Amino acid sequence: MSYFEKISQTELKENPIIMGIETSCDETAVAIIKNGREILADEIISSATEHARFGGVVPEIASRGHTTAISEAVERALKSANLTLEDIDAFAVTEGAGLLGALLVGVSYAKALAYSTNKPLIPVSHIRGHIAATYLADKSVQPPFITILASGGHTAIVAVEDYYTLNVLGGTLDDAVGEAFDKVARVLGLSYPGGPNVEKLASMGENVIPLPKMLKNYDGGEYDFSYSGLKTAVINYVHNSESKGIQINKANVANSFQHSAIDVLIDKALKATKTYGYNTIAVSGGVGANGYLRKTLTEKANEFGLKVVLPEKRYCTDNGAMIGAEGFLQYKKRNFADLTLNAKAIIPLK
Ligand code: KG4
Ligand code: ZN
Repeated sequence: MSYFEKISQTELKENPIIMGIETSCDETAVAIIKNGREILADEIISSATEHARFGGVVPEIASRGHTTAISEAVERALKSANLTLEDIDAFAVTEGAGLLGALLVGVSYAKALAYSTNKPLIPVSHIRGHIAATYLADKSVQPPFITILASGGHTAIVAVEDYYTLNVLGGTLDDAVGEAFDKVARVLGLSYPGGPNVEKLASMGENVIPLPKMLKNYDGGEYDFSYSGLKTAVINYVHNSESKGIQINKANVANSFQHSAIDVLIDKALKATKTYGYNTIAVSGGVGANGYLRKTLTEKANEFGLKVVLPEKRYCTDNGAMIGAEGFLQYKKRNFADLTLNAKAIIPLK
């Protein structure tokens, strides 16, 4: 019997233990999740410091980093959960979106683990994984809810109608919000990764620099965003001041940018929550780790009597636990892959 024939006959466990493997960017992340909600282990080995001197992720370095780190990350996770490979009921892995060479390391490794243990291999969408981190934050939270999906590659307001149905209400027409943070960081002379460094600098400044309001005269989707104009305005402000020899207050630039970039996300998400009659609002993706976003969203949601779900910061940025959490949902649907599973640079958000 072939591997896939055997897997197709696997009886589903009531409370499965799933290993989540994530290698889409610069983090080699492996976690072990019980029943979709309980984190038994969570390990991350990052190659971020190796990318810092290049000002951004170098795909080739990321792939090599995963290749050298993945065995150790798996071993550490098993050890910290006090489990062996035999105890794992299924192996969930990010199949995309992300850097192809980086994804292939995780996909190939997960295949080998699944094949050698005769356990299911579960392909997971990275973005669905970010949203599934919500279920790790609060064991009682259930759809429907609105999430602000804000990462380095995506920016969208998503209505999570049930565990499987995502209704993308609107998204960015150009740059992602995380990408804008990273670019602004660069022009302010801050190192990679930019988001946390912009936040740190912003905490020392004030919102006093006038920056363009996004999509002011845009008559398209009411939940859409555009970050390229804001990013360019910041870059122009810095360059123009420099060329005129005017000293700028970088902390004020960071703070003003942060306000413009985040406020619009919160406003549109609150509007969606109200329009759809939901009582819960969540954040997902790396920008969800932003302290200003978390604080402001909490204050505004409280005003409206909404429940706010903020995954811990380490579960907003890339991690293996979110892949295990989404893997659990796919396990319940028997969404198993055969050994031809390939990595995908792009997966539509749906
Ligand atoms: O979700 P993520 O870890 O990877 C992607 O799937 O893209 O998101 C990474 C993005 C980067 O652009 C990073 O600068 C941003 O999230 N980010 C932040 C913060 N932490 C990470 N942006 C603003 N404030 C933060 N504290
Ligand atoms: Zn991510």
